[in-house]
Amino acid sequence: MPLVDLQRLPKHVAIIMDGNGRWAQAQGRVRSVGHREGSHSVRRIVRAARRLGIDALTLFAFSEQNWFRPAHEIAALMELLRDYLLSEREELLDNGIRLRAVGRLPKLPDRVRSVLDERIAETAANRGMTLTLALSYGGREEIVDAARRLAARVRCGELEPDAIDEELLDAAIPSVDVGRVDLLIRTGGEQRISNFLLWGAAYAELYFTERLWPDFDEEDLYQAIAAYQQRDRRFGRVALVTGTEVAKVGE
Ligand code: IPE
Ligand code: IPE
Ligand code: MG
Repeated sequence: MPLVDLQRLPKHVAIIMDGNGRWAQAQGRVRSVGHREGSHSVRRIVRAARRLGIDALTLFAFSEQNWFRPAHEIAALMELLRDYLLSEREELLDNGIRLRAVGRLPKLPDRVRSVLDERIAETAANRGMTLTLALSYGGREEIVDAARRLAARVRCGELEPDAIDEELLDAAIPSVDVGRVDLLIRTGGEQRISNFLLWGAAYAELYFTERLWPDFDEEDLYQAIAAYQQRDRRFGRVALVTGTEVAKVGE
């Protein structure tokens, strides 16, 4: 971990956990085996992020578009999610991790939703790190939902259209409750956002790695953070005096 400067950690790290299927295919196994292996990586990376002192970690676990995958793959993913939520209870509580979820959660099966709600409720007072699972999540959908809520407030006379500004949208977009994204990592080699945190990642530093998610480990996380710490975040401005001053004006 020598590469990481603990004084300048990204506050909000988000990960597109991609490559489970290819990991399994490379071994001649079915895709769900890759997803199971991927859930071990989740455990490992949550623990590593917590130990480092990251404030917020957001993981893309299931996209709105992933509902178009074969039913048996969706079922396997939902069972793994449930298993994860059941098995991580103590890990979350012992480490002061607050669990949240963003996305169109009512679309999740009841047997997942109930455990998810339990974990969220019992970790709500934790202050160590906020772990947000993006489930049935799409960045565009999240913006659409926010627009609907704001439009409803305008219609009932509670809000003037001119009063709608970035701050108001921030408040209407749940994925940025923990702050905008500083570092966005995507494993699996693809260099795209795939409808992840569109609003919150506007000025995120992007980090793409060929490593498939089941192979992604602590060292890979440290490497991504070290790369982030080499970046010059200008937020559209020119020269900077010190990193902290830029962080202030950028936010
Ligand atoms: C990411 O791995 C997990 C989910 C999208 C749920 P994939 O299943 O997309 O794996 P690849 O990209 O096909 O290898
Ligand atoms: C993004 O990966 C979604 C998750 C990691 C949950 P996908 O594999 O679904 O994205 P595409 O199809 O490569 O864009
Ligand atoms: Mg994929």
